[in-house]
Order: sequence, then structure tokens, then C-alpha cells
Amino acid sequence: MDQAPRPADSPAANLRGDADLEHSAGAFAERRRRLRERLGPGAAALVASLPERVRNGDAHYRFRQHSDVYYLTGFEEPQAVALLLPASPDPGGGVEAAQPRFVLFVRPADPELERWDGPRLGVDGARAALGADEAFPIGELRERLSSLLANSTELHYAVGLDPQLDATVMEAVAKLRKTERRGQRPPRAIVDPLAAMHELRLVKDAAEVATLRRAAAITAEAHVAAMRAGRPGAHEYELEALVDYTFRSRGGAGPGYNTIVGAGANATVLHYIDNRARLREGDLVLIDAGCELDHYTADVTRTFPASGRFTPAQRAVYDVVLAAQRSAIELVAPGVTIDQLHQHCVRRLTEGMIQLGLLRGDVEERVADGSYRDFFMHGTSHWLGLDVHDAGAYTIGGTARPLAPGMVITVEPGLYIADAERYPAELRGIGVRIEDDVLVTERGHENLTAACPKDPDELENLCRR
Ligand code: GLY
Ligand code: MN
Ligand code: MN
Repeated sequence: MDQAPRPADSPAANLRGDADLEHSAGAFAERRRRLRERLGPGAAALVASLPERVRNGDAHYRFRQHSDVYYLTGFEEPQAVALLLPASPDPGGGVEAAQPRFVLFVRPADPELERWDGPRLGVDGARAALGADEAFPIGELRERLSSLLANSTELHYAVGLDPQLDATVMEAVAKLRKTERRGQRPPRAIVDPLAAMHELRLVKDAAEVATLRRAAAITAEAHVAAMRAGRPGAHEYELEALVDYTFRSRGGAGPGYNTIVGAGANATVLHYIDNRARLREGDLVLIDAGCELDHYTADVTRTFPASGRFTPAQRAVYDVVLAAQRSAIELVAPGVTIDQLHQHCVRRLTEGMIQLGLLRGDVEERVADGSYRDFFMHGTSHWLGLDVHDAGAYTIGGTARPLAPGMVITVEPGLYIADAERYPAELRGIGVRIEDDVLVTERGHENLTAACPKDPDELENLCRR
């Protein structure tokens, strides 16, 4: 895709490197080819951007393309619909079957509006720059969709995300039902994108891995900057701003999800995003932040002592989490399942909970009765890519899916001890999570975020005040 040129000496240049080159038009065309292969000969796929959202009054959130649309087209504008259409299965009358087509609906060029909102690729641009066989103004979708979908055996489409588009698709299907006798049949099934599209997204291609690697490098840098600045007296939002600044100044779009900066007991609130408190002497600070670069996001958590020293109790909790996290990462290899990684962490963390005096009795019993969930209540891993909780099935036919080369997962055990009297005083209000992004390789794994420090002695050195 054409993008504004970036000055070679901007800070963004160092880490972006040749990512643009790698994410070339060829990479998107190859994904469409591979999706067609998965869809089979008669099926069509429709992916669409989601509507732009109002934030308040007449102010909108900044638009970010739907991940499926970006994955297949590289197109970043709103009001986009992309269709992959099969070769017409039986044109009849000895006519050659038509070739499969890639059709785009886009915002048409509009010099007046473009003066206000910036340039649009337009219909001609969509053909030229995005390789569409045909392109139409988005306003023509409703009248054209039924004939475009006619005689596709099935339609891969994510129902339920955009009610207006759902209605347009249903209307197209209903129209085709009426024309069936004249040989224009509706698709026989609407299929969730999980079945084909999201299978592709699960295994990253070379351009995706290159982009994730850069997002990971920027993210590591941002965490280190926050560790250096995270002294008592600073506000959580100052650290958030520093993380954000690092992401943006290195060429990233910003955070790929809301940044969590939790000091003290705020670290035990899993989705804490207020980030308004002041760091106090003796606090641990948990930061969960990932840079989004060219639509791909990292997802990293680090926990460090604001004063530069762990208390013995904090260090004991930290060591339990780190040992579980490191040993879980070591297990990552083709054939292993996310469920196995989770069971491994549950066992290691539960042993730790007993050693710390949070639980009593036997490890097996505490695992079996689920009491560990008072302190570790989330999963260990999720897919990572265009979305922080990326697309792809976690089970196949009801059983856990084995990892395969090219998949990227997080490994993120944690221990969260509520600030409550029922727990030993020195452990109350301690929250620790350690999260890395791990690529599954042919032989095992590569930790993409290994550059982000997590060794406790190294953290104390970095945070020395
Ligand atoms: N930051 C979201 C997560 O860790 O899953
Ligand atoms: Mn995560
Ligand atoms: Mn995270």
C-alpha cells in the first residue's frame, strides 16, 4: 500500500526498517490465494470494516481497520467491503467459467470531503493499488451484492458485528431466493470466518513475523523506559504516557489495547486501566502494554519495584511467577497445547501458593478443588497477532489444538493477592504478572520479547533510585 514517505532520519526509521517492504502488495495477494484454497471452489468470502464510532458529541474514535480486512487487502480506510468470489461454477451454454474475482467496495473519491478528512484511494485507486479485479463505490453495495453472490455455494461472513451490513447481506440472500428458478441461487450456508479465514490468521507468514518482531522490540524499549521512570511519587498515567510516547516515536500506531499501569494493590485488579494513582515507596508496579505496529500488536507485562528493591515477600511471589513463566516458555513447541501450558502453570503456581502460606495442604488437592483460582484466575496463553486476543480456534473437534510452527502465543502466568485481612500481612495487595510473546518454531520456540528484562536482579539494577 502507498503510504506517506517517512523521513529517513526520523526515530521511526530505525525500528520500522523494511517492514513496509515485507508487507507488500504481494503478501496480501498471497493471503487471498491461500484463503481461496481453503474456501474451496464454490465458496465466497465477505469481509468488511466496522462502522466508525462516536466517542462523544460529534467526536469520533480514531479509525482502525478491521483485522480481517487488513489481513486480506492492506486497505486502511473505513467503509470498505472486500469480496472473494469463486469462478462461476456453471455459467452454462458452453461458456468458459469466469475467473475467481477480488471485488472491493470503497469510499469514492470526493474532492470536497477529502479537503476535510484527507485523501481517499477511491475506486480507481482501489483497483490499481490494492489489486482488485473490480471496485465500486460503497453506496452501490446494496444493489450489487445479490448478483455478485449468485451461485456461490456458501458465504464466509461474520454475522453479528454490524447489524446494518447483516441486513444488507440477508437482503441479498432473500433476493436470490426469488431468482432461484431463473438460475441465480443464494449461497446454501453462511459460514463463520473461524472456519477458513481465521485458520489462516493463526499461522503467521514471514511478513507478519517480521512486523511482530519489531512491535516486540519497541514494546521492550517502552517497558524499560517506564521501569527507569517509575519511582515513588510518579503517577501511573505518567508511565502510561511514557510507554505511549515510546510506541509512537518509534513508528508504532500506539498501544494495541488499553495500557494497564497498576501500582501497589491496583496490580491485583486484572483490567485496571484508570492509571490515576501515585506510586508509593515499596509498591510493585505492574505494566501490561503492547505496541501496535502496522496493525500487529505485542502484549507484554512486567512487574517491578518502584523503590528499586523488592521486599522479601514481593521477591518470593515474583520468583514463583517467574519460575512458572520461564518453565512454561521452555515447553512451547509444535504438538504442545495451550491447555498443557496452562496446567503446567497452575501446578507450579499452586506449589508456590502453598509455600507462600496462601493455601494449605496438598498440591493435587488444591489444583483439583480449584482454590488456586483465588490467586490465579485467568488463562496462561492466547493467540497474538493483528488482534491482541487473536483469531483462531483453540480447540478442534472439542480437543485442545496442538501448537504448530508460525503460531504466536503469549505466556502470562500471574499471582494476585487481594488486599484483605485473611491473607498474611506482608503478602496483601501484591500483584505480579510476567508476560512474553512466543513464536512457535519448527524446533521449539523463540521468545520475541526476550529483550524485555524480567530477571529480578536485573530489574533492581534498572530501577535503582
Ligand atoms: N493485555 C491483555 C492480555 O494480556 O491478555
Ligand atoms: Mn495477554
Ligand atoms: Mn497483556
